[in-house]
Amino acid sequence: MERRRFGLTKHELAVVGQGTWYLEDSDRASAIAALRRGLDLGMTHIDTAELYGWGTVERIVGEAIAGRRDEVFLVSKVVPQNASRRGTLSACERSLARLRTDRLDCYLLHWRGEHPLEDTFVAFEQLQREGKILSWGVSNFDVPDLDEAREIAGDGSLVCNQVLYHLKERAIEHAVLPWCARHGLAVVAYSPFGHGRFPGPRTRGGRVLQEIAVAHGATARQVALRFLLRWPLLFTIPKAGRPEHAVENAGAGDLRLTAAELARIDHAFPLGPRRPVLPTL
Ligand SMILES: NC(=O)c1ccc[n+]([C@@H]2O[C@H](COP(=O)([O-])OP(=O)(O)OC[C@H]3O[C@@H](n4cnc5c(N)ncnc54)[C@H](OP(=O)(O)O)[C@@H]3O)[C@@H](O)[C@H]2O)c1
Repeated sequence: MERRRFGLTKHELAVVGQGTWYLEDSDRASAIAALRRGLDLGMTHIDTAELYGWGTVERIVGEAIAGRRDEVFLVSKVVPQNASRRGTLSACERSLARLRTDRLDCYLLHWRGEHPLEDTFVAFEQLQREGKILSWGVSNFDVPDLDEAREIAGDGSLVCNQVLYHLKERAIEHAVLPWCARHGLAVVAYSPFGHGRFPGPRTRGGRVLQEIAVAHGATARQVALRFLLRWPLLFTIPKAGRPEHAVENAGAGDLRLTAAELARIDHAFPLGPRRPVLPTL
């Protein structure tokens, strides 16, 4: 599994991690087995949030990583309505308890809400001083939000921006990706399979993915993940509720596509217009 430096942190992190949104809808044993199988295969970046099943998913993750905490790069998120200074501190404590851990490797503001960014960031810094979070970042931030965040926190404080990015939604390539590259932030691509709307094998784009996959003894999904990962600052976190899906997703970690293959995919799934970055709910 290829690893990359995660933003300006000291961490080298696997390029493919594991998402957990709606994991509460999967069979619990299967969900836990999927996360553990993913860990076995090096997908150590596990992304969760207090929002997911309102705590249920963090509890599932806590069970899955029990006894393996040190292998994991654990990320959770505070919802905007809790992101006041005191609210962030207590939301983090609740997440830690549900995840059965004493620290998060990274804590994110899930999307921008009504609380001033200053208040959330002061809380993040306090949590970091206390060793309860080892780094922090943001999610669903567009360029004006990133500019404001940087003005408040300074360079090198935020380590990542987690944003929507898949073959049919490439809007971040216009400005968000370049901004993050300029300022040393990791970009974490969420919903990399389009949240369940992956291009089918009978579509034109799906056929392109399939042809390239066959040439590598790979699958269309692995090829899709690799296309996203062509940016050196990028990580991705597909969600799998079944162990066999986790195994397939991990397989993207060492795949390499040629420039001609990347160009074919680029042509089959065109960039599209610049759109505002908005949370997916
Ligand atoms: N920050 C944010 O605002 C935000 C928003 C959305 C998502 N996220 C994060 O990003 C993660 C990933 O995004 P997502 O869950 O929206 O969607 P996704 O990863 O694009 O797609 C998940 C869907 O793909 C299926 N799948 C996964 N691997 C597969 C495989 N190898 N073969 C066939 N099907 C496969 C899953 O099925 P099974 O479950 O049956 O395996 C599930 O239905 C989330 O779980 C969450 O952690 C963050």
